[in-house]
Amino acid sequence: MKRNTFDLNAKFSYKKINSELKNFLNIYKKRPIKNNDGGCRINHAFAIYYILKKLKPKLVIESGVYKGQTTWLIEKTLPKTKLICIDINLSQRKYVSKKAKYSNIDFKFHDFSKIPLNTLVFFDDHVNHLDRIKETNFFKIKNIIFEDNYNNKDGDFQTIKQLYENHKFIHNESFFSYIKTFFLFLKMIFKKIISNKYNAFKDLDIIKNRIRDFYFYKNYKNNIKNNINFYFEFPPLVKIKMKTKKPLLKKINLRSSELFQELKFYNYITFIKLK
Ligand SMILES: C[S@@+](CC[C@H](N)C(=O)[O-])C[C@H]1O[C@@H](n2cnc3c(N)ncnc32)[C@H](O)[C@@H]1O
Repeated sequence: MKRNTFDLNAKFSYKKINSELKNFLNIYKKRPIKNNDGGCRINHAFAIYYILKKLKPKLVIESGVYKGQTTWLIEKTLPKTKLICIDINLSQRKYVSKKAKYSNIDFKFHDFSKIPLNTLVFFDDHVNHLDRIKETNFFKIKNIIFEDNYNNKDGDFQTIKQLYENHKFIHNESFFSYIKTFFLFLKMIFKKIISNKYNAFKDLDIIKNRIRDFYFYKNYKNNIKNNINFYFEFPPLVKIKMKTKKPLLKKINLRSSELFQELKFYNYITFIKLK
């Protein structure tokens, strides 16, 4: 286990990371979606590219496809790797991969009983990170990339970074969103009353994801730490107006102004190796 962490620390040195930047930029300039608002931008894309290059998983499971930019990036980074792409709303795709297997069923409901040992799962779906760690553990998957690993000042769900800060996420939604949730709840109760064959599990899951408050007791984070072998928050390329780790570079030469604009987006994207 110790040797494993030692190897990973070496793989994630700033020097090694920076040596891959040029290759990455050559790929990224060909991205199919130039405006990926609401999805990954250059900082996150470089992190995904680098982590995949170093780990070379035989299978990548992507949860949170949106327009398909990261699907494209995974494919370009590891052309031989198998790909399963999950999104509860696949209609938003602008890039559709020919080789990926798509699914609109949540990650936790899949049959992953026969997947390669070094499978990696990339979560960009805004679902509670603690739930995702438990599910990943259940499937015996060891490698995770978490997008949007925000601190207690940001984000719209419970992240692992917030847990480390002892922050219990409280989800504040709009009035109309609460009204919609209320009617979904009423509908579910009504179905329960009129049919004893109705199974409410899926509807409860939808409601749980609409109000994403989370609670834990003192020292709960020890349980999570106990499951994690390696935790690496990928730094931003250059300094930005957020509290982050030391950036990878002092300055960067990017020929395109679009790319320059992307530099300010950063969300503490994190690679985790489970024990
Ligand atoms: C931030 S976007 C993903 C961006 C994408 N990875 C990219 O940068 O190209 C989040 C996506 O998660 C999807 N989503 C929400 N809940 C989900 C769930 N339970 N499982 C999978 N996808 C989900 C949303 O429909 C949305 O398309």
